[in-house]
Amino acid sequence: MRVTIFGTGYVGLVTGTCLAEVGHDVICVDIDNAKVEGLNRGVIPIYEPGLESMVKANHASGRLNFTTDAAAAIEHGDVVFIAVGTPPDEDGSADLKYVLAVARTIGQHVQRAVVVVNKSTVPVGTADKVRATIAQELANRRTTLVFDVVSNPEFLKEGDAVNDCMRPDRIVIGTDSAQALEKLKRLYAPFNRNHERIVAMDVRSAELTKYAANAMLATKISFMNEMACIAEQVGADIEHVRQGIGSDPRIGWHFIYPGAGYGGSCFPKDVQALAWTAQQYGCNPRLLDAVEAVNAAQKQHLFELMQRHFPDGVAGKTVAVWGLSFKPNTDDMRAASSRTLLAQLWEAGARVQAFDPEATQEARRIFGTRDDLHLCATASEALQDADALVVVTEWKQFRSPDFGKLARTLKDKVVFDGRNLYDPAEVEAAGLAYYGIGRGR
Ligand code: UGA
Repeated sequence: MRVTIFGTGYVGLVTGTCLAEVGHDVICVDIDNAKVEGLNRGVIPIYEPGLESMVKANHASGRLNFTTDAAAAIEHGDVVFIAVGTPPDEDGSADLKYVLAVARTIGQHVQRAVVVVNKSTVPVGTADKVRATIAQELANRRTTLVFDVVSNPEFLKEGDAVNDCMRPDRIVIGTDSAQALEKLKRLYAPFNRNHERIVAMDVRSAELTKYAANAMLATKISFMNEMACIAEQVGADIEHVRQGIGSDPRIGWHFIYPGAGYGGSCFPKDVQALAWTAQQYGCNPRLLDAVEAVNAAQKQHLFELMQRHFPDGVAGKTVAVWGLSFKPNTDDMRAASSRTLLAQLWEAGARVQAFDPEATQEARRIFGTRDDLHLCATASEALQDADALVVVTEWKQFRSPDFGKLARTLKDKVVFDGRNLYDPAEVEAAGLAYYGIGRGR
């Protein structure tokens, strides 16, 4: 099928590439000329395992193209995806300006019956707004055309996006049009083998499903972070508690890892946006507000542990920080817990020596050059002349350091483990003080 995708961010680029991979003819549109030129030369703007080679192969085969020419791209597609950003507005609501700008462009140029698909995470009711915007543009052109607006939210995770997209656990399609549903079923047929993954529903339920999924996952994390806080105070170890509850299939092993708080471009923004929507409709989002509040506090917890260890403060200390991205396998630092920690350390007068396997460039872009930040090329460089080590992101290469060497290198001989990667007894046996999340044993 012929597919057009507006937006070459995480969702648009990965979706477009995976659709091309299974044989569809895809054009991705972006307003950013440099990005489009780069993509046509095989320069991938994000770090995502497996994506680069797939983009290059499909581009070379002619099934995946990038353009800034919206009119030509709309002419191309039987299905037109909207996969542009919905950044949070000042009040926490999702800002729809990019989504509605694409809707206007579609309305201005579309010449035949198309299915418009919302893939961006958008508040309930957005499909109606997209439909109205396109209809208005068509009316301005004195044109009548049949078109459908479908909600088809994306559930991919950064760092594992290609895999999630190629092997989805479900494909949610929200539409009241049997024809549009049939078209999308054909589009997704290559991803829907062996057992039925398509969950068809009305548009508003599909829009809410996306928020419900992210809010549920964020709730699990905040719940565990609150348990960790209790464990720390009562002298229990949250890691034992996690193992003690995860085997119950009603609870499950996923997303019950306590840590330095959740970050990224989705959970923080989506929990806030859903709370905002709830309020707009007269519901009191007590639980969502609590999930958000627990997370905000959790992002400050590593610094609290440091204050506990250094009662005279960290002014003048050099702190090695391992991990800057909001999670492993990405260079994304949006709403990353590292940003809260670094801000607190700098505010308190400490110097930071940070290492991240992929996010160094992003950190440089965000923080610029400053005397109290040294971005290191290796994990061991970050330790040189440092007083303490803080692990913020659980990259694989941080999992089993030589604790003896750490004890010889760190001047204050202390490790703050923001992701509970280490066995406290093993760290302490090497002569280091150990602080984890919720490990008050
Ligand atoms: C999340 C969802 O997992 C995807 O299903 C969804 O499609 C995506 O948002 C989206 O809306 O686009 P993502 O933000 O890429 O994906 O990252 P996650 O792997 O979900 O991690 C989010 C944050 O939660 C990270 O900061 C991670 O460290 C934290 N986390 C995760 C925990 O603190 N504990 C856990 O047990 C799991």
